[in-house]
Amino acid sequence: IIETGATPVFADIDPVTRNIDLDLLEKAITPRTKAILPVYLSGLPVDMDRLYGIARDHKLRVIEDAAQAFGSTWRGKKIGSFGDMVSFSFHANKNVTSIEGGALVLNNEEEAVLAQKYRLQGITRTGFDGMDCDLLGGKYNLTDVAARVGLGQLKHVGRFTEKRRELARAYFESFANGSAVRSGVQLPVQNFTDSNWHMFQIALPLERLSLTRSEFMGQMKERGIGTGVHYPALHLFTLYRARGFHEGMFPHAEKYGASTVTLPLFTQMTHDDVTRVVQAVDEICAAHAI
Ligand SMILES: Cc1ncc(COP(=O)(O)O)c(C=O)c1O
Repeated sequence: IIETGATPVFADIDPVTRNIDLDLLEKAITPRTKAILPVYLSGLPVDMDRLYGIARDHKLRVIEDAAQAFGSTWRGKKIGSFGDMVSFSFHANKNVTSIEGGALVLNNEEEAVLAQKYRLQGITRTGFDGMDCDLLGGKYNLTDVAARVGLGQLKHVGRFTEKRRELARAYFESFANGSAVRSGVQLPVQNFTDSNWHMFQIALPLERLSLTRSEFMGQMKERGIGTGVHYPALHLFTLYRARGFHEGMFPHAEKYGASTVTLPLFTQMTHDDVTRVVQAVDEICAAHAI
């Protein structure tokens, strides 16, 4: 939620979905609130009916950070095909990429024209030779080259999403067979209809392990398996600490942020790769169980 003034109001995550907790979101709304900014972590949408119900009740705009949710759906409708302002990223690590760039989806002509002006120097062109500038725009245009790359990728979005869902299923099957579940590794929500499975994250049971997350990631790397962290709790970044945020304010985000590890998930992966990753998680956890 953004209030007028520069400091955002955060709401904690739901520890199961790892997305914004909509009960807490509603409690965080103040008379100064202008908009709600949900993030769909790893491509899993929040309850969109409830989100837009809250927005309607409080007369708020919704700016969807759907950066990771291209190809995801809600009740059969693609994310971005409905809603208020929906932004997607086509950065190189996204399911569909133009290397850099993204898209903003708007639902009314007036705002679309305004966004087009802001995108490219505030300029409006008419006919063959007309040019005017009535506001100070920036330079946020997707280059033609990037657009060409993106269009090439776009054709495959359905196939990419299906493959990612299949690999996510393979992860759940492997974890169900391994010992990692017993050692307390927390898995994501099993959703194969809405999520585009942009990422697959586990949360480590660090209180039951004799190694740190960093050491765990190091041991995965020694086995040739790359991992990442998405994301540490944002309110503990220096930028926000300087504005008064501190530990204890958003316990679920803090716990998840300190224990999450992103496992490999890319369309060229095989089921054997998935098994190998889960085996590595199992073995490392078993070797360091307290
Ligand atoms: C949730 C989320 N929001 C915003 C962004 C920013 O997107 P971009 O890098 O295209 O500006 C990303 C990706 O990097 C993201 O994952």
